Amino acid sequence: SSPSHALQQSFVECFSSYSSPQSIPISKVVFTNESASFSSLLHQSIRNLRFLNTSSKPLFLVTPFHESHVQAAVVCAKKKGLQLRVRSGGHDYEGLSYLSSQSQFIVLDLTNLRSIDVDIETETASVETGATLGEFYYRIAEKSLIHGFPAGSCPTVGVGGHISGGGFGTLFRKHGLAADKVIDAKIVDFNGRIMDRNTMGEELFWAIRGGGGASFGVILSWKLKLVSLPPKLTIFHVQKTPKQGAMQLFQKWQRIAYKLDEDLFLHVTIGVQEQTISLSFVALFLGPIEKLIPLMNTQFPELGLQRENYTEMNWIQSILFFAGFPIQTPPQILLKKPLSNAFFKAKSDFVTYPIPQNGLEGLWNKVLEEEGSYLILTPYGGKMSQISELETPFPHRKGNIFGIQYMVSWENGSESYKHLSWIREVYAYMEPYVSKDPRGAYLNYRDLDLGRNYGRNVRYEEAKVWGLKYYKSNFERLVRVKTKVDPSNFFWNEQSIPTSLYRS
Ligand code: FDA
Repeated sequence: SSPSHALQQSFVECFSSYSSPQSIPISKVVFTNESASFSSLLHQSIRNLRFLNTSSKPLFLVTPFHESHVQAAVVCAKKKGLQLRVRSGGHDYEGLSYLSSQSQFIVLDLTNLRSIDVDIETETASVETGATLGEFYYRIAEKSLIHGFPAGSCPTVGVGGHISGGGFGTLFRKHGLAADKVIDAKIVDFNGRIMDRNTMGEELFWAIRGGGGASFGVILSWKLKLVSLPPKLTIFHVQKTPKQGAMQLFQKWQRIAYKLDEDLFLHVTIGVQEQTISLSFVALFLGPIEKLIPLMNTQFPELGLQRENYTEMNWIQSILFFAGFPIQTPPQILLKKPLSNAFFKAKSDFVTYPIPQNGLEGLWNKVLEEEGSYLILTPYGGKMSQISELETPFPHRKGNIFGIQYMVSWENGSESYKHLSWIREVYAYMEPYVSKDPRGAYLNYRDLDLGRNYGRNVRYEEAKVWGLKYYKSNFERLVRVKTKVDPSNFFWNEQSIPTSLYRS
């Protein structure tokens, strides 16, 4: 038999001897790349079609039903010299949860570890990392319509990658990041040991709340603090073209959005409609219409909002709205995981001073010339300015007025090169207008253009180039944690935290 066949066999033997006896047969947990369901299992959580038909295929897919399966996968991968990739929701922008530049690797897909236990009395929840945000939100709303959780807008995002990378959404000006609400976690380390906050210690617990879980171990579950919310929330959504004063409105927005009441989240998306630039001003207010109207009339009357622009709803309906569903849609839709149908590439920036008009005009022209491109501009301030940038590895707090996500998506794989070139050009164009020394980037909008590791012997100096962008001065502390908890760099990937071993 082929060498990889022999390796597969010895991995399976190792796996059976390490995982504690279960009623589940191993054939339902470990799939070799020759098994019939391998492709459909692998593809079900690939969100970016750019990575669907690559030659990088794992030798195995392991889908644990029990914690001991995770332990066995770690121990046996290490023993057999296989790399491990961990996948929760599979939304990684560069596919790092299921691809590897090394040929012999396995994917640990947590899809079967998705239990969610919401306790309204203590306002906490235990969430296994195979769960999606949509499932979590649904389970909260099932028990209470006046509780929520401050995390991202896309319901199919997994809680494993999202929370360990920061995680922001419409509640973050009031309540901070998803990572700010973690009160405990369970993690499997490189020796296959299970640890909680108490046994892992505060340094590792700090690192996995924004430093990315994949560098440190396999996170099994989170214990999270819920937030209480008013029964009535209000949204509005208005679109403006340049003829309708979009430039003046944007100029005002970038000067006030981060200073608005922290109950008000007002973001802008910029795209193209009928061959012209179109700005969408979309807001979520944590309160009823009666309170929002006077606020908008004093703070931003230029938007010209009328009473009919406002809609009141509860929190779970606001989740449906920001996920792009009509608010009357039964929330069960949040439990679904549709297959992806888009190729995309994204990048991120942080803005610390308002962008001058000529800079904006150039940016809008670039959006106009590229089909499928759009920008999402998210106001900071509020709670985000009150939390120290050292509190978690996510450093983009005070001083940022808004974040930018540049996005381009397309349907025809043969056009990839053109779209990738476009987004790189826009990123270069924006340099004078965004944060500097380092130019900030958001880990959860992973971007391998910033730099990458080329093997397990990750060089500290090279990793620092992109590390400072994601974590600023927290990078050094992440390196110290990594060196302590995973000195052999078993949990390695193309953008994992280096150990200090290869520091020149
Ligand atoms: P995936 O499973 O791909 O994992 C991402 C990374 O985390 C990988 O390195 C993986 O190995 C690691 N990982 C996953 N589970 C782990 C575990 N249990 N233990 C250790 N490591 C683990 N972000 C945001 O802040 N706000 C938003 O509103 C959105 N919206 C959004 C929409 C869409 C359509 C996409 C594709 C993405 C977003 N994001 C976002 C970005 C999102 O937060 C980011 O891609 C997350 O890392 C995705 O987490 P998943 O678990 O889905 O990804």
